[in-house]
Amino acid sequence: MTLGTVRASTLGERRVALVPQVVSALSKKGLEVLVQSNAGREAGISDDAFREAGVRIVSETEAWESDILALVTPPSDEEIARLPSGAIVVGFMQPLDVPERIARLADQGITALAMELVPRISRAQKMDALSAMASLAGYKATLVAANRLPRFFPLLTTAAGTVRPANVTILGAGVAGLQAIATARRLGARVWGYDIREAAREEVKSLGAQFVELDLEMEDMQDEGGYAKALMAAKAEQQVELLVPHLANSDVVITTALIPGRRAPTLVSEAAVKAMKPGSVIVDLAAASGGNCVLTAPDSVTTHHDVQIIGYTNLPSTVPTDASFLYARTVSAMIGEFVEDGVFGANFEDEIFKSACVCHEGQVVHERVRSLINS
Ligand code: NAI
Repeated sequence: MTLGTVRASTLGERRVALVPQVVSALSKKGLEVLVQSNAGREAGISDDAFREAGVRIVSETEAWESDILALVTPPSDEEIARLPSGAIVVGFMQPLDVPERIARLADQGITALAMELVPRISRAQKMDALSAMASLAGYKATLVAANRLPRFFPLLTTAAGTVRPANVTILGAGVAGLQAIATARRLGARVWGYDIREAAREEVKSLGAQFVELDLEMEDMQDEGGYAKALMAAKAEQQVELLVPHLANSDVVITTALIPGRRAPTLVSEAAVKAMKPGSVIVDLAAASGGNCVLTAPDSVTTHHDVQIIGYTNLPSTVPTDASFLYARTVSAMIGEFVEDGVFGANFEDEIFKSACVCHEGQVVHERVRSLINS
């Protein structure tokens, strides 16, 4: 079988789904690897680098006709129409945000594996594309904030006087949040972290940050999958209010809170923004899922009450070389898991396959996606 990738067509997308470093393992599995000419250019990977690794560089048309197609971003309607019936597509598919797309893929006769639905179990860690990308986004969010802040991050003692370190608060201490905390610490800021999962407290502290203690009674909010459960409405409102004084004292707030498959929880109210000092910066990593701050506009930088609010939704694409490398590792681990002697085999007995496969043989096979389509 052939495994190919194309140049991403989404505006501003610079990542590529395969890199030279993963080719040898895929070839050993009996796959012929095809890459559309110039697909890796924005990520700093030339066609020659792919050729040296054993890739056949092909036209856009030939790449779209691959038996297995690795993608970074979900295919558009026009792109779905180009896919040959029976093809296997692996990549980010936004199955819970745009379930209609999965219905169209099913109608086209495609088997699609959504990287967002890889379960958080140890065997699947090497396929955890969300975590790999969130880690890069957390790092970059801190750098974006440092660049925008009209102040210095570290303590600076000079003959002319002493500059106090910036106060940085990270809300949501999952993969992105912990990386944002570590980066802000490395830059010398005073850092606080906050999360509703009990387990996050020790992780925040182990990075040298302080934990924001809110006077909010609740049970442990972690589910069996390691993700957070949604707060009841009354508690959520209380949380937003209790955070205000702490946020007022922060120069930078980076928000990363997420409940899988839901709109992002509101953590930063307009009152909190108003209470922050002029020039302060909020980076809202949850901008694509509705934002943790009520004033966030996706893919924009806006200013409200003299506070800059940044809603970039694709920070991994601003580090395209490393993001492509990590993403390609997860995608190729996923594909490699289900290929033997050059042949891809659907295996619904396998927990990873069952969780990630959204459509197969003309049907939407993922229960949650199906119920979203029918609702
Ligand atoms: P994650 O699921 O590992 O972490 C989210 C954290 O938020 C969890 O620790 C959870 O307990 C916490 N949380 C949930 N509700 C909360 C609440 N009410 N108060 C405090 N904490 C709460 O997710 P991950 O992988 O760290 O991603 C974080 C966010 O970053 C997601 O929204 C994701 O979509 C986004 N992201 C954004 C990118 C960008 O370029 N903007 C790129 C990659 C990810």
